[in-house]
Amino acid sequence: MSIHELEATIQQLAIPGKGILAADESTGTIAKRFNSINLESTPENRRAYRELLFTTPNVNKFICGVILYEETLGQRSSNGQLFPDVLAELGIVPGIKVDKGIVDLPFAPNEKITQGLDGLAERLVTYKEMGARFAKWRAVLNISEQLPSCLALHTNADALARYASICQDQGIVPIVEPELLMDGNHSIERCAEVTERTLHIVFDSLVKHRVMLEGMILKPSMTIAGVDHRPVASIDEVARATVKVLRRTVPAAVPTINFLSGGQSPELSTAHLNAMNKLGHQPWLLSFSYGRALQDPCLKTWQGKPENVKAAQQAFYKVAEANAAASLGKAAV
Ligand code: 13P
Repeated sequence: MSIHELEATIQQLAIPGKGILAADESTGTIAKRFNSINLESTPENRRAYRELLFTTPNVNKFICGVILYEETLGQRSSNGQLFPDVLAELGIVPGIKVDKGIVDLPFAPNEKITQGLDGLAERLVTYKEMGARFAKWRAVLNISEQLPSCLALHTNADALARYASICQDQGIVPIVEPELLMDGNHSIERCAEVTERTLHIVFDSLVKHRVMLEGMILKPSMTIAGVDHRPVASIDEVARATVKVLRRTVPAAVPTINFLSGGQSPELSTAHLNAMNKLGHQPWLLSFSYGRALQDPCLKTWQGKPENVKAAQQAFYKVAEANAAASLGKAAV
């Protein structure tokens, strides 16, 4: 394992006032997003959309890394440059989603396991040759009165840790993403309890698998009530609950925590992140690695029309700027 390689990548990804764009929607997921603007999901439309995002003027002031889907890693901008090269030239680190999605976990009703460990080391060699320097693996857990089960927690944590160790062995920084879904009517207290348990188990597995904590990024969900729960917790309550859980579970050796947005609106994701960073100094950076919350306003503005590209880029720039400010506790929200 090349520790220096991991450290060099972390130095570029753990920058106060910057965050990560998740633009790694699988072909199925991007089809759903395009469907919302009545756009067909063709390789060319996907390429054009990703080009719009990556070439947004000056967005590298706020974005230090982009997670790509495998297809995008091999696609080119209109001037013929490969996307990883486009990003690297802007000082943005190219990353790659390496998990192969979720399937039902046998004998665990309503629970999932993430696939993709077999052949991962070989795939990473290829991705690295294509320019990727960090990776992402997403584990998905449901919250209810009974869930997640011990089985789902331990199996998913073990897969995350195996993935992270394989990445580090190849000189690739792993983003470790245990997502607790917002679906359901659970309270914020229940989410806090489950998130704390999940992160304990995930870090226990990471340590067992000898993952170097200084060379990884944690991508958690915020501690937030289920979408159907009423009343809705205040922004301050979410910020305090999230930070409390993280302080109890995430070793100070982890350099940066970059949240997923998980279906929260762009405004709320920014407000929550900002409120957390206003709580004072923490052992790690608290930043973002949003997909939907960074892209939704841009996608709505674009509508798949070339004449809207400029306005869509402005929309993306604005959200990226707001979240970069929120990662310093300085957003105007
Ligand atoms: P969202 O911010 O839309 O939840 O996506 C982040 C992500 O990368 C999920 O794996």
